[in-house]
Order: sequence, then structure tokens, then C-alpha cells
Amino acid sequence: MSEYSLNLEVLCKAGNLMQQGELVAFPTETVYGLGGNALNPEASRKIYAAKGRPSDNPLIIHIANLEALDKIVTHVPSYAKKLAAAYWPGPLTMIFHKSEIVPDSTTGGMDTVAVRMPNNKIALELIKQAGGYVAAPSANTSGRPSPTRAAHVYTDMKGKIPLIIDGGPVGIGIESTIVDITQQYPMVLRPGHITKEMLEKTLGCPVILDPAMFSVGANQQPRAPGMKYKHYAPKAELTIVTGRKEDVENSIIRFVREKEDEGFSVGVICTDESITAYEGLHYKSIGLRKDEHLVAHNLFGVLRAFDEEDVDFIYSEAFSEKGVGQAIMNRLSKAAGQQIINASSQESADEV
Ligand code: TXA
Ligand code: MG
Repeated sequence: MSEYSLNLEVLCKAGNLMQQGELVAFPTETVYGLGGNALNPEASRKIYAAKGRPSDNPLIIHIANLEALDKIVTHVPSYAKKLAAAYWPGPLTMIFHKSEIVPDSTTGGMDTVAVRMPNNKIALELIKQAGGYVAAPSANTSGRPSPTRAAHVYTDMKGKIPLIIDGGPVGIGIESTIVDITQQYPMVLRPGHITKEMLEKTLGCPVILDPAMFSVGANQQPRAPGMKYKHYAPKAELTIVTGRKEDVENSIIRFVREKEDEGFSVGVICTDESITAYEGLHYKSIGLRKDEHLVAHNLFGVLRAFDEEDVDFIYSEAFSEKGVGQAIMNRLSKAAGQQIINASSQESADEV
């Protein structure tokens, strides 16, 4: 624990860098962030440049206390007060109407602003030292899997930013849940650790899922601009295989053999429950299937680990879309560019 305890000298230096318009990568409880002063348009421009991110994709402003909220939003709806009391600091981002003080470059030209208070001591102290408002996307190159440890940030950001703060591996491993509370009914724009069911229980009202959330490329535009891009993608071509357990295992083995016969290097993402099926193949277990928090925690790390081994193709088992599973499948299907094969219907099609 002590290895990653607060080092105030480092955090003061990092805060000064951000006050001067520089960028600093830092740990949060979800994924590592690439931080800059949210009220400085030049810092936002540097963030977009370092990530190679389209500048119409807005940034989340990170705050360290509730009092900081009033300055950057026009008003705080009652939904927000309830959700903040229940989940801040924590993995929840809320969308508000923005105040004048927030530069357009931070919100990608939108008149709303995304805000969250991370549940990580290093992040909270850093935000204070930086002046209270830190714009921070995930600290990956745009399109790549989000970083869940400092080494991932280093791979993507080396030579581009002056400082990475190593706070060890993150706790959660997938980005915050985003909920829009500017409309009549709260709407989840990006699923995460805090589920729709949890939000409904806290608010005592229905919470809608953005219908465009799972249908990239369809007519509907997601309300969170970042959700429209191919995202979280490893360098290898990823395919998700759904269906009955045995059908999935048999299909994956067949797909791997076919690709290997063509001379490709192929990886398999499986679970502790299915490891034995893939003996002799190049597999990585993402953890126990029934422990969805563990699967979420390991997801991006496994995708990055395959990148380091230069595999050409990855086949992954699918996961349940219940609870946090919804966030897992959202990230995994984006990483796969929606390439999903149903092994059970495939088998029956083959038999015909
Ligand atoms: O867990 C997290 O939220 C991490 C850590 C670092 O805090 N941050 C993160 O930021 O995931 P980023 O930039 O990678 O993703 C932010 C998402 C994007 O999809 C963006 O389009 C959406 O939030 N977003 C930001 N401002 C918005 C707004 N005003 N309206 C709708 N969507 C917004
Ligand atoms: Mg991101």
C-alpha cells in the first residue's frame, strides 16, 4: 500500500505543471486520466493533440469537492444532488448545462459539460493542487484500450507529456458510467460500474439507456460523442463469439486453427471456467466469469497484453449483459468493431 501513498511534493509539482498549462497523467479508480487545467483552452488543445483525439469529442471535468460544481454549471438539478450524495466521489459522470467559464474547447463546442469526482486520493489531491478543475480523458491514444496501469500510459504517451504519476493498478478498470440529467428522464450515455438499476434505485424513477449505445454505425447518433468512434481496440482483429458454452469453445478452437493454418498468430480470451477447453492454444483468462467486477478489471489489460505479443487475430468469449456485464460487453463489442458471431446458430447453419 505504502508504495503508492500520497507524495505531496510530487503532487504539488504536478499541480504547478497543470496550472502552467501542461498535462499530467494520473490514476483514478476507473482508468488512468490525462489531465490538464479544464478552464484553460490551451490545455484542452494539448490533450486532444497528445491523444490524437477529434476535438469535437468533449472532455470530463474532474472536481475534488461539491462546492466546485457551482462555478462550472448553470444549476444543479435535484437528480444530481441525489446521485452526488450516493456516488461521489466515485465512478459516475453527470452531464450538466455548462456555465460561461467553461471553454468551448473543453466541451467540444457543446453547451453541456460532463463532471465527475473521482474516488482516488492521488487524483483528489492533484485536482486541488491544480486549481480545482481538471479535464481528463482516459490517458490512451485515441481508439486504443484505456490504460489501467501507469505502464499502459507510458506506452501511449511517452515523449508527449512531461509527467505520469504511478498510482499502481486501478481498482475498477472500465471508465465511469455517464448519465445525462439535463432532460426529463435521466439517460445513461455510457454504461459502467454504477448500473442503470443502481441509478433507478437511488433516484426512485426510471432511467433510460441511450438507444444508440449498442448500435454503432446505425442511424442513431449516440449522445456521448465519444461513443460513436471505434474504440478500446487492440491492434489485432477481435471477434466475439456468443452462444452455448460448448458451441462457443468448439467454434473458437475451429476459428483459431483456420487462422493458424493460414500462418497467423491467434489469441483467445477465455475465463477461468473454460481454460481447459483451449489447452495448446494461445489463451489468456480474463478471470472468473461469474465475477463480473474481476472481468471488468482485467478487460483492457488483456487486450493490451495481446498487443505486446503482436497477435493478428483475437477470439473472445462473450459475457452476460446483466449488471456490470452491460459495460463489459459495450467495451468489448466496440473493441471488436461489432464483429460478433453466434456459435450456436452457426453450428446449426453448418449442419443444414
Ligand atoms: O472514468 C472515466 O470517466 C475516465 C477517467 C479518466 O475519469 N475518463 C474518461 O474520459 O473516460 P473520456 O474522455 O475517455 O470519455 C469521456 C466520454 C466521451 O465519450 C465523451 O464523448 C463523453 O464522455 N462526454 C463528455 N462530455 C460530454 C457532454 N457534454 N455530453 C455528452 N457526452 C459527453
Ligand atoms: Mg476514453
